Amino acid sequence: MADIVKANPRAVLGLATGSTPLELYGFLADWNGKGEISFAQTTTFNLDEYMGIPVSDRNSYRSFMNENFFRKIDIDISRTHVLNGNAADVEAECAAYEKAIRDAGGIDVQLLGLGADAHIGFNEPGSSFESRTRRKELLAQTINDNARFFGNDKSKVPTSALTMGIASIMDARSIVLLAFGQHKAKAVFDMVKGPVTRDVPASILQRHPNARIYLDEAAASML
Ligand code: GLP
Repeated sequence: MADIVKANPRAVLGLATGSTPLELYGFLADWNGKGEISFAQTTTFNLDEYMGIPVSDRNSYRSFMNENFFRKIDIDISRTHVLNGNAADVEAECAAYEKAIRDAGGIDVQLLGLGADAHIGFNEPGSSFESRTRRKELLAQTINDNARFFGNDKSKVPTSALTMGIASIMDARSIVLLAFGQHKAKAVFDMVKGPVTRDVPASILQRHPNARIYLDEAAASML
């Protein structure tokens, strides 16, 4: 990702939340601090946002990104885009997001984590490969997995979200997926070795011309 920004300071980055990319954001911020890389002219689009919690909530993905990345780098905050999970008109919000990505020239590199159920963004199993940015209901496993950010209280985890669709993600010119830990091993196996199926949203990446997958040994243990 750093190479892409160095080669093109105006690059458009697709960003992800969750615990997985935190170390990567740390490295990028570090290099930015040392003057090795600048984000001053980059534009970013995040994958997804919860519905029904205020932007100011520390668990909103906007807060997460500000806290863990944007405030640590020289980015122009007006060039950072996160879906508004409280939009009065959800369809208009999602259509405007797709248009903003197109107007920016498309995403040069899309960063992805991997859900334990093989979701990407919040595209849960069953999501259409043709899907665009839209509202999705979260499945029980995702709500359980994300409860750790909400004091382990499942009832506090939002049950729906706005997310870029599978087709929106596949439009990115390159993709970098990270997955770490034993709890991702089955999803990694299904994504890499299984059939391309809606039941395993990340399996569609087998058809992307420029997708790279980075794993630790535990996440790769079933391959
Ligand atoms: C969340 C996010 C995904 C993320 C995934 C994995 O639900 N919507 O974008 O990749 O779950 O999260 P983690 O990296 O914390 O394991």
